[in-house]
This record gives sequence, structure tokens and C-alpha cells, in this order.
Amino acid sequence: TIIEQITGNESEDALIYEKASKILRSGGLVAFPTETVYGLGGDALNKDASRKIYAAKGRPSDNPLIVHIADRNDLYKLAEEVPETALKLADAFMPGPITIILKKKECVPGETTGGLDTVAIRMPRHPVAARMIRESGVYVAAPSANTSGRPSPTKAKYVIEDLNGKVDMIIADDTVDIGIESTIVDLSEEVPTVLRPGYITLEMLRKVLGRVEIDKAVEAGNILASDIAPKAPGMKYRHYAPKAELTIVSGNEDSVAQKINELVSKRLEDGAKVGIMTTDENIYRYTKGEVRSLGLRADEATVAKNLFAVLREFDDIGAEYIYSEAFANSNVGQAVMNRLIKAAGHSIIEV
Ligand code: TXA
Ligand code: MG
Repeated sequence: TIIEQITGNESEDALIYEKASKILRSGGLVAFPTETVYGLGGDALNKDASRKIYAAKGRPSDNPLIVHIADRNDLYKLAEEVPETALKLADAFMPGPITIILKKKECVPGETTGGLDTVAIRMPRHPVAARMIRESGVYVAAPSANTSGRPSPTKAKYVIEDLNGKVDMIIADDTVDIGIESTIVDLSEEVPTVLRPGYITLEMLRKVLGRVEIDKAVEAGNILASDIAPKAPGMKYRHYAPKAELTIVSGNEDSVAQKINELVSKRLEDGAKVGIMTTDENIYRYTKGEVRSLGLRADEATVAKNLFAVLREFDDIGAEYIYSEAFANSNVGQAVMNRLIKAAGHSIIEV
């Protein structure tokens, strides 16, 4: 695996994009930064490249990939129909952290779409991603650049940890700033429906489109009901999981801190390594175990940005148990809770 760091020096960086383009055009794999998380890219119209992506991630092949584009007009190249709703979302949010699902054109192979007749399309705004896609001239199928099931990588070192030796090239540039994956909106049916919450919230979507629903399976609260099947195939898998056993404690702040401290003490007595995920507002409440703040609770975007990195950091230090405070289930908090609950394998204690 070739590992290259973006330096900001044009003549050096130009060589990196050139190498990446060659690899992508010949069916190879390149991991690259986006504004949400790192992606693991391959030519979306090349079946073999898609198969290689699944193999590198250890991902089930019925879980479709997102196709990344560098130009809005590419929507017409990949989608059978581009409805009014898609154009409105493109005007409002593209390039940016949004993915839309449309009926696919013949040219998009079933290997890329997990056998579905729809295709997920995203136009990243991260300059490295955008330039790499544009210069390569291919549509880039890219899931998050992690081993299937692990937290999505927001830092190059975690991409290297998961994918070194399994892909042709890794482009490092730790300017990934949103930290959780794009909002997915299904536009292939009558009513626009959010299949995965993200930085672009339901409220923002409703301002642009009017009526927007959220997939029952990912809706606040219903995330817990594991008998409702989510529409995005990927949302059904255990996901984002750290190596430690993660438990969320939810309730009023005083009782949550008390409960977490109690649980931590017990684990420490047993000689276990224990992590605590809290926020700047509450960090003073915890004095034992490895305490990490996700940032200000009042600033949900920061919490989102730090979530996966902190989960990975607990892996690095060998945490065996992690206890996390819960987050508000609105706006970006909804996206945070969606990831956290999956990472915890639905283990939540209400106090
Ligand atoms: O921010 C992101 O979206 C990142 C970066 C790299 O762009 N990518 C990402 O890809 O999160 P991935 O593969 O980890 O997640 C894609 C999700 C999966 O849950 C998958 O099931 C869903 O999108 N998906 C893809 N195509 C779909 C389709 N045609 N219909 C329904 N869901 C689809
Ligand atoms: Mg993923």
C-alpha cells in the first residue's frame, strides 16, 4: 500500500492525485479523506473494483456502496430519473454531507448497488475527495474506510490500521471535520425519507423539501426496536463498534453520573480497564477510569466530530468496558445517538 500525505505543496500534491487517478482507472482501490469520514474508493462502474472493496472491508456484499461524483451533472449519468426533489437538495446541499438514493441507470452494476435497482449518490465537498474524483474521471464507489463493523475512521492512522496491505493507496489528510457519515435521503419513492441521520438534519431537509419522513427503524426511540427492518441495508448490521463492551446510561445528569461512577468502580475492582465518554459540562463528575470528553454537549457538531475518534482511542488504550452518557435525540444529536446506540449493540441503561 502506497501511503501519501497531502502537503499543500501543489507540485507534490499533483503527483499524489496523478497516482490515485491511475490506480482508480485501472480498477484499484484508494482510501481518501472526505468531509464526513475517510472513504475506501474504487471505480463504481467496474464490477471487479466493487468486489475488491467488499473484500478489503470484509463487508457483506448485499450492503450497497455510495457512488461519489465531482459534478452535479453526473446525477444524470447514474440515475434513470432525476426528480425535482433531487435538484432542490443538490441546490441546497451539494457538494456536502448528503447522499441521495435514486433509480439507477443500467450502467451502474449490481455489484456496486448490492443488487438493488437504486443507486446512492454523493458529491463530497472535501477538496481532496473532489479533486481526486474529478481528475480520475471515474465515479468513485466508496464506503467508509474501516473494517466492516468498526468505527468509521476520521484519522489516517485508523485507515492505515484497518486497510494497510489491503488497498493500493491511502491518501492522508486529517481535515475530516464532520466526523459522522452523510445523511442518506431516499428519493426513489413518493415521499422523501431519511434512511440514515447525519449532519444535515430532518429540519434542514424539511425546509427545502416540505414533507420528509424518517425511516421508522432509525427514528429516535425506534432505534431500540430491533424488529423493524431498516431500508438502508447497512443500517441493520452491528456497526461502529469499539472492541470494548459499550453501555449507554441515559437519564438526568446527576443520576447518570452516579450510575456510571458506580459501574466504573465495580469494573475497576475487578481489575478491568474502563473508559468513560462524557462532555465538557460533565467531565468534573468523573474521577476514576479513563475519562474522555466529546466536547461541549451544547455543541452537537463537536460531539459528532469526536465520537468515532474517541471510540477508536479507547481501542488504542485497551479499554474493556466503556460507559457513555446519552445525547439529545434531536438535530445532529439524533445522528450521534443513532451511531452510539449501534456501537453499544443497543445496550442502554435508563436511570
Ligand atoms: O459520509 C459518507 O456517506 C461516507 C463517505 C465515505 O462518503 N460513506 C459511507 O458509506 O458512509 P458506507 O458504505 O459506510 O455507508 C453507506 C450506507 C449503507 O448503510 C448502505 O446500506 C446505504 O448507504 N446505501 C447505499 N446504497 C443504498 C441504496 N441504493 N438504497 C438504500 N441504502 C443504500
Ligand atoms: Mg460504513
